[in-house]
Amino acid sequence: MKIVIAISGASGVNLGLKALRLLPNTIEKHFIMTDNSKIVLDEEMDVTIHNNKDIGASIASGSFGIDAMLIAPCSMNTLAKISCGIADNLVTRVASVMIKEQKKLILAPREMPYSAISLENMHKLSTLGIVIAPPVMGYYSKQQTLDDMENFIVGKWFDLLGIENNLYKRWKTDE
Ligand SMILES: Cc1cc2nc3c(=O)[nH]c(=O)nc-3n(C[C@H](O)[C@H](O)[C@H](O)COP(=O)(O)O)c2cc1C
Repeated sequence: MKIVIAISGASGVNLGLKALRLLPNTIEKHFIMTDNSKIVLDEEMDVTIHNNKDIGASIASGSFGIDAMLIAPCSMNTLAKISCGIADNLVTRVASVMIKEQKKLILAPREMPYSAISLENMHKLSTLGIVIAPPVMGYYSKQQTLDDMENFIVGKWFDLLGIENNLYKRWKTDE
């Protein structure tokens, strides 16, 4: 399985990095950051890192065979571009490829509150089959720490990607 994790310039870049770190080794990992998401990367990560300006990268073509893409966090800017079909960088280009190839695309929009424009964009994308999965906290797993809470969110994304995980305690599993 080949998966692209992309980080755009919304708050919570740690969530995208964490999802990348926790992906099983069996998955071929590709990673893109937008220019607005400045952060130092862990140099030991076994991942192919792409330049967001490189719209000629392997993953920019449907023929490369990417199975799924997660953009986490997804800024309202990147969300708006994807909903309009704009493909002006590698993140938005790969997202447009996922849509045209009918592959799984998961967006984790991070903003509070959402404007009517962003909600319209999310609605449009949702009707096209894109999964809108914002980083929303859950409490039923009785998380004690920020790390637990992040694991809950990443675990929910992995569920959507079809990746087995025990990152959070599932509802009523202790009964
Ligand atoms: C510290 C900081 C936090 C930000 N947080 C958010 C956010 O949570 N959601 C969002 O949509 N934009 C946020 N922005 C604004 C985006 O970075 C900005 O719209 C940018 O143009 C997004 O570009 P990109 O989509 O290419 O990454 C934030 C900006 C800064 C500097």
